[in-house]
Amino acid sequence: MRIAMVGAGYVGLVSGACFAEVGTEVCIVDTDAAKVASLREGKVPIYEPGLERLVTDNAREGRLSFTTDLAEAVRGAEAVFLAVGTPSRRGDGHADLSYVFAAAEQVARAATQPLVLVTKSTVPVGTGRQVHEIVRAARPDLAIEVASNPEFLREGNAIGDFMRPDRVVIGVEEGAGGERALAVLRRLYRPLYLIETPILATGIETAELIKYAANAFLATKITFINEIADLCERVGADVHDVARGMGLDGRIGRKFLHAGPGYGGSCFPKDTLALARTAADSGAPIRLVEATIAVNEARKSAMADRVVAACGGSLAGKVVAVLGLAFKPETDDMREAASLVMLPRLMAAGATVRAFDPAAMEQARPLLPAGIHYAANALEAITGADALVLLTEWNEFRALAPERLRAAMRGDVLLDLRNVYDPEAMRAAGFHYSSIGRP
Ligand SMILES: NC(=O)c1ccc[n+]([C@@H]2O[C@H](COP(=O)([O-])OP(=O)(O)OC[C@H]3O[C@@H](n4cnc5c(N)ncnc54)[C@H](O)[C@@H]3O)[C@@H](O)[C@H]2O)c1
Repeated sequence: MRIAMVGAGYVGLVSGACFAEVGTEVCIVDTDAAKVASLREGKVPIYEPGLERLVTDNAREGRLSFTTDLAEAVRGAEAVFLAVGTPSRRGDGHADLSYVFAAAEQVARAATQPLVLVTKSTVPVGTGRQVHEIVRAARPDLAIEVASNPEFLREGNAIGDFMRPDRVVIGVEEGAGGERALAVLRRLYRPLYLIETPILATGIETAELIKYAANAFLATKITFINEIADLCERVGADVHDVARGMGLDGRIGRKFLHAGPGYGGSCFPKDTLALARTAADSGAPIRLVEATIAVNEARKSAMADRVVAACGGSLAGKVVAVLGLAFKPETDDMREAASLVMLPRLMAAGATVRAFDPAAMEQARPLLPAGIHYAANALEAITGADALVLLTEWNEFRALAPERLRAAMRGDVLLDLRNVYDPEAMRAAGFHYSSIGRP
């Protein structure tokens, strides 16, 4: 079977390489010529564990190829996936669908055989219908079926998530065309999942909404435990035990109950915003999600205030070391990272900032104010610092020995915004240690 993937970003590259790994012939097309050139040389332009090997192995075997020529990618493909970006539109928070619509039209015009056009990008309810209109207008002569197949992978664990997902959601239109589309997608997914993974076949609107509802629920869960953590601090409770006590209840579940500096990343912020806009426009506002968005936004700035408070009310003349810049470990993705809000505020309050991230420094540099010192490693960042802020919980930061940290620093303030360190060990090493929601 041959398929095409439009967009060589996190989703397009991972899903394209995974389909190729189980024997599908995959051509990935991207408008970014530099990205395509580097992929052809076996260099993966993003940091995602295991991806480089998967890409180079499958390219060598001839199952995975890269091009900037859409017509070449679409030729002979039974399914063409749209995996282009859907960022927040400037000004109103709706999803910007211009990349999706442009790509859909380009695919329809380039097609020379019947195919299934599958939207993998996260798109608001109703987009599938619009894609259908675009395709019909461009190619009334050709049987192009539209389908929705939202992607649930997480950056940092993307290959594992794609290879072993909890479920696959496929939305198709009613009628014979929809049945044909579903049959093609079942055949495509079969070698990956055989019988273990439930495939949920729905209408297109339902599939589109499942993705937003799932992301909004997870974002709300995080925000809930963050507010509980704030309460814990006021009343002397421990958020770890509260989360554990809640999460062991099978109806609640243990995941996404880690208190921290607020969610970021390429999905939750824009998807919650887009869902809230769609819901309000449809006359069914979801106030719970609106509150989640507002609480999370405020939280990132509040984290900078915590640093100021921990440093005695002023950062003037202080050196603050920040470990971790990406929105989470095991990725170089800086989209909506807490660091983008916090670091400028620390600098505006007078701090000199020294930062280190194992993967995201190159991506971070153009997004953060000038004047930050980017250290070569964690130890260099903290040496001589007055305060240390742990912002992203990369494993190598978890492993730092308290005494070694303390000896390298000038001051004794340690703000652990991911609750990874043992408070007693840090206090025993002489730190003025604080974390989130723990006494
Ligand atoms: N990143 C994630 O973890 C994740 C997870 C699930 C779903 N999603 C969704 O998947 C979609 C893609 O996300 P991403 O993070 O992979 O995006 P990305 O920004 O990393 O990549 C998108 C790619 O599409 C390319 N592109 C844009 N228009 C094109 C066109 N007309 N033809 C060819 N290429 C084109 C861009 O050059 C870019 O390389 C988004 O809708 C996102 O919400 C992302």
